[in-house]
Amino acid sequence: MCGIMGYVGSGKASGIILNGLARQEYRGYDSTGIALRCDKEIKNAKIVGRVSELVKLVEKMPREYLEARSGIGHTRWATHGGVTVTNAHPHESEDGMVILVHNGIIENSREIRADLEGRGIKFKTETDTEAACQLLAHLYKGDALAAMTELARSLAGAFALVIMFRDRPDEIWCARRGSPLVVANSDEASYCASDPTALLEFTHDLFFLEEGEMAVLKPGGVSFFGFDGVPRDKAPIHLSWDSIMADKGQYEHFMRKEIGEQPDVMRLTIDAHTDVTSVSMEKSLNLPKDIIKRIRRIHLVACGTSHYATLLAWNIMESLDCEIEASVDVASEYRYRNVHGGDDTLAIFVSQSGETADTLAAARLARSKGTHCIAITNVRGSTIDREVENTLLSLAGPEIGVAATKTFMGQIGLLALLVMQILKDRGVLSANDEARIIGSMRTLPAHMDSILEREGEIRALAEKYAGSRGFFFIGRRECVPLTMEGALKLKEIAYLPSEAYAAGEMKHGPIAMLDEHLLVVALVPNTDLREKTLSNVAECRARNAPILLISTEGDAEAREHADDVIYLPSVERELFPFLAVIPLQLFAYHVARTLKRDIDMPRNLAKSVTVE
Ligand code: M6R
Repeated sequence: MCGIMGYVGSGKASGIILNGLARQEYRGYDSTGIALRCDKEIKNAKIVGRVSELVKLVEKMPREYLEARSGIGHTRWATHGGVTVTNAHPHESEDGMVILVHNGIIENSREIRADLEGRGIKFKTETDTEAACQLLAHLYKGDALAAMTELARSLAGAFALVIMFRDRPDEIWCARRGSPLVVANSDEASYCASDPTALLEFTHDLFFLEEGEMAVLKPGGVSFFGFDGVPRDKAPIHLSWDSIMADKGQYEHFMRKEIGEQPDVMRLTIDAHTDVTSVSMEKSLNLPKDIIKRIRRIHLVACGTSHYATLLAWNIMESLDCEIEASVDVASEYRYRNVHGGDDTLAIFVSQSGETADTLAAARLARSKGTHCIAITNVRGSTIDREVENTLLSLAGPEIGVAATKTFMGQIGLLALLVMQILKDRGVLSANDEARIIGSMRTLPAHMDSILEREGEIRALAEKYAGSRGFFFIGRRECVPLTMEGALKLKEIAYLPSEAYAAGEMKHGPIAMLDEHLLVVALVPNTDLREKTLSNVAECRARNAPILLISTEGDAEAREHADDVIYLPSVERELFPFLAVIPLQLFAYHVARTLKRDIDMPRNLAKSVTVE
């Protein structure tokens, strides 16, 4: 939620900041702004709209500001206060001393505001952020470190703040509690941003601020402090991602590019964690075997698409062995439940960004109970990576499209292997199952390539059904998590009503909605549940709903049950979802494209949900 960027150095701040904001725009995009410094003067430019429009506004600024050597910028996902130019960041204190951008929510902003208004300070906006801005100006008496320390003590809630003081030309201050902030310096310049992808073109050695840390950026380097004002030494983390990986290349949308990268994600995952026909995660999984053997229950916790990845993992675990009690929960619920914890419990937290507020809170709860924790994330250096003792990095590379695609693939690949490693370490994974699944996993990348080559077929179906009034995704057992993912993709990028149901549940209510305007997408692989699922499909067909079947190659009879069929290569039944997700992603993508939606930045959404 919200992307922020700060720069001080010898380069042109306007271009560097605008470029950094454009790279982080997926984090929030309802309004945007920049503040540029020229000596002691600082000028703000803000708009409701996208960074591309802010660029045009900045071009009209006086020349000296275009040449500015420092500044801060923001792209907003509104929480407190409507989407207006006034509420857009940066905010400026009444006395003009403090100019600030913020990501997060200041929970005690009303109290701070009431107190400062009582002292005669006039507020201009409806935002929670302005409380931090005005308070900092009120606290600042020429000593920035003292004022920042006092500010951090006074604020409740989550914040990543980036600040310019009018009388401190070569400095940018920043502070972090609860919202991500990454800092870097190179070649007489220092930078900060919400997301590492904004800084990769300058350096791959990044300093991730910890909870309760702040920093001052100067052209010659960065100094770090705790919220108590005591200096801290920090070592950079090297991020191997390439900035090219965060570019769209020849594609119209990041989402389409990222869908196409999934065979490589799966190849990398298999290469990193398997040996011919066996799983070998010992090197990356830093959890001693005796702990794994002691565990009596596993909690799988995540949000959104990552949650569906955990449902798939749960399904694989159940299919391979039921001796261990496993449960799946969304993090926003887990964090408030009286969940069991302790030495006999392992909790696995999955978050592509590693910054989702609910998942972080859930992980903190589990850790406070002494539960063993593993995080699966795509971002090295993210909060969850730093807070949880064991991290498995998914190998998807930077994902920019708001809709998760290749990170889901990275997660389910890792989760499948992790589940097998755990069962193997406990001595309950049969050699046959291990070889069967790993062998089949190795065929996935080539099968994925072949599905991607048939994009035209899926695109034609998407165009045919884009006018439907709604969509039902149905399936059984291992396909149920995918029905959810298929429906979510359509909701988030096409804004169409779409529901996911275990196929057997349709007759308990949802079937009443069916008619010829509602498409049923049925996942029917050739497994022991094929006939059962086809019966449910027949029930839908009898209510005049058009049917799109996703079936296994060779099942010629499937055509008799549907208006259209997408055939997928045959793999072990646990892995069918790994292939089926690709046509579902492409279907949602092409429906959204047909309807001319803003696919990479869908309305009302943001890629990282760093507020509760
Ligand atoms: O970064 P996370 O994996 O923790 O994000 C969780 C969800 O916010 C995320 O999966 C969301 O549902 C995506 N937009 C789905 O495409």
